[in-house]
Amino acid sequence: MVKFALPKNSKITKGKEWPAPADAKETREFKVYRYDPDSGANPHLDSYTVDLGTCGPMVLDALIKIKNETDSTLTFRRSCREGVCGSCAMNIDGSNTLACTKAIEDVKGTVKIYPLPSMAVVKDLVPDMTHFYAQYASIEPWLHTVSPTPEREWKQSPEDRAKLDGLYECILCACCSTSCPSYWWNQDRYLGPAALLQAQRWLADSRDEATGERLDNLEDPFRLYRCHTIMNCASACPKGLNPAKAIAEIKQTMVKRSI
Ligand code: SF4
Ligand code: SF4
Ligand code: FES
Repeated sequence: MVKFALPKNSKITKGKEWPAPADAKETREFKVYRYDPDSGANPHLDSYTVDLGTCGPMVLDALIKIKNETDSTLTFRRSCREGVCGSCAMNIDGSNTLACTKAIEDVKGTVKIYPLPSMAVVKDLVPDMTHFYAQYASIEPWLHTVSPTPEREWKQSPEDRAKLDGLYECILCACCSTSCPSYWWNQDRYLGPAALLQAQRWLADSRDEATGERLDNLEDPFRLYRCHTIMNCASACPKGLNPAKAIAEIKQTMVKRSI
């Protein structure tokens, strides 16, 4: 797992400290990034010491406990609590991952929690995903066809369906894109690993009939070719997917059509 040395931002100051209850037997400190752009104040790190005896096993359990019992102003996204919706992605212990599937016991010492890197912060651990979703929409993530619509369904053989394995499982959490140095530097023009893995998901679909248009849309020095195979994306993906491999497959398809 790639770990990020998050820049030591001198503007991130020490915040408040909330101790554990006096009768807590096993405790753990969580240092959490707090920032409210509307307040005009600098970001700070608040410290919450949590009683693990009354807390669930995952980092998300601790955040929910803190919000419910200690500090209702702490802001983060979550929904499914089982690694399916992708909304609880954040940087925990230096790695981008899902708070709901990251066990507290897998982190040594203080659990440090930041929002996903390289995105603007809406509040605390909530990044602004607007641009990320617009990039996803730009690859037109739905079936394009020109053949007459069949009476019942667009059929696909089991072999062709298997070609989507390793692609369709993406939950759009953005852990990969926000781990990618090329994306940090060029996200205004580079689509990033998540959108490109999704692009390959539709290129690989035997039922799709817009391969040429899809490739035309990606044929650009920045949209596709800013991937330098650094592989942070594959290390970060909490679903075990390999966006770098998907990007390499798109590049191969580009080469094949140019021969
Ligand atoms: S392999 Fe490509 S997409 Fe993945 S982290 Fe590296 S540059 Fe980014
Ligand atoms: S490829 Fe993995 S890390 Fe990237 S958005 Fe999809 S599920 Fe998240
Ligand atoms: S809450 Fe849905 S993935 Fe974590």
